Amino acid sequence: MDRDEIIRLLATTDADEVRALLKAADQTRRRLVGDEVYLRGIIEFSNHCVRNCRYCGLRRGNKALRRYRIPDDEVLDLAARVRDAGIGTVVLQAGEDPAHTAEYICRLVRRIKDATGLTITLSIGERSYGDYRAFKASGADRYLLKHETADPELYRRLHPDSDYDNRIRCLKWLKELGYETGAGNMVGLPGQTLATLADDILLMRELDIDMIGIGPFIPHPDTPLKNAAVGDLGLVLKVIAVTRLVTGNTNIPATTALGALDPEIRLGALASGANVVMPDFTPAHYKQHYEIYPGRSRVSSDIREVLAGLEKDLAGINLCIGQGSGGRRNRSDG
Ligand code: 5AD
Ligand code: SF4
Repeated sequence: MDRDEIIRLLATTDADEVRALLKAADQTRRRLVGDEVYLRGIIEFSNHCVRNCRYCGLRRGNKALRRYRIPDDEVLDLAARVRDAGIGTVVLQAGEDPAHTAEYICRLVRRIKDATGLTITLSIGERSYGDYRAFKASGADRYLLKHETADPELYRRLHPDSDYDNRIRCLKWLKELGYETGAGNMVGLPGQTLATLADDILLMRELDIDMIGIGPFIPHPDTPLKNAAVGDLGLVLKVIAVTRLVTGNTNIPATTALGALDPEIRLGALASGANVVMPDFTPAHYKQHYEIYPGRSRVSSDIREVLAGLEKDLAGINLCIGQGSGGRRNRSDG
């Protein structure tokens, strides 16, 4: 599929054509990655951030936000809960917190690895090559770093203090170091076009990204973009579907942002190419302050209830919960 064809598909409003697109993505997903939905337990272990991304509630300019760091012993307990829930992989996510020295993160990763044996995914932003290498050596297996948008000019406008080229460099380093690497973008950013979204998808194919998080932009009231419109959910589904068709056997979560806007649409994503769900293990009294965008706390924090509900929902669309860590399948398995 070339750029023009992707743009044409994303633009279509013809109901039959949209239905056919989502169905084709579902079939491709079942053929290449099966009908299992893989779970990742996520722990949001700090909401401190030195950056000032214009869309995000954790930006350092947001003085209204209560900041927290979860002490490492508690992070370790939460990781044990992920394992006890039968989930094979934990995602440690935080803002770019200056307290997270490389030594600190390495020690935390090592402790979790030794105590739980879980597959460990880090999502703590842009770091040096040396840091990424040290995290890997300490037991980190995967890394999520969304590229956010493949339009360098839009990237510059949204990120007053970071650089598109460095973002891409980080993604290349992560791949080079052998991480299963995640990227992804927001749909509905002010100033974005369908061509931008096509470029997002093609960029991820070009970088051979393994995990792809696609979610709607949701305006946060304490950010400069508070008056911008929310991303179109129908368009998010189309982007997910096209991404599945273009990238084959990647892991694509039905993102929390999608579920926050509309729990029903999350199932729609899982029936249109997405194959991963990330249940949140952050205790509610912290999670309420991990306010990247509004609406996150609507998601229940009783993990057994979440998993039972999910299993039932998945059965309704002929999918089931996968066991193990759900890494990207070898191309030759396909
Ligand atoms: N709406 C949707 N997603 C957002 N993110 C940050 N702010 C928003 C927002 N307002 C996403 C970005 C980032 C991750 C931390 O959350 O993609 O990578
Ligand atoms: Fe910080 Fe990430 Fe939010 Fe940017 S998007 S302000 S780096 S938490």
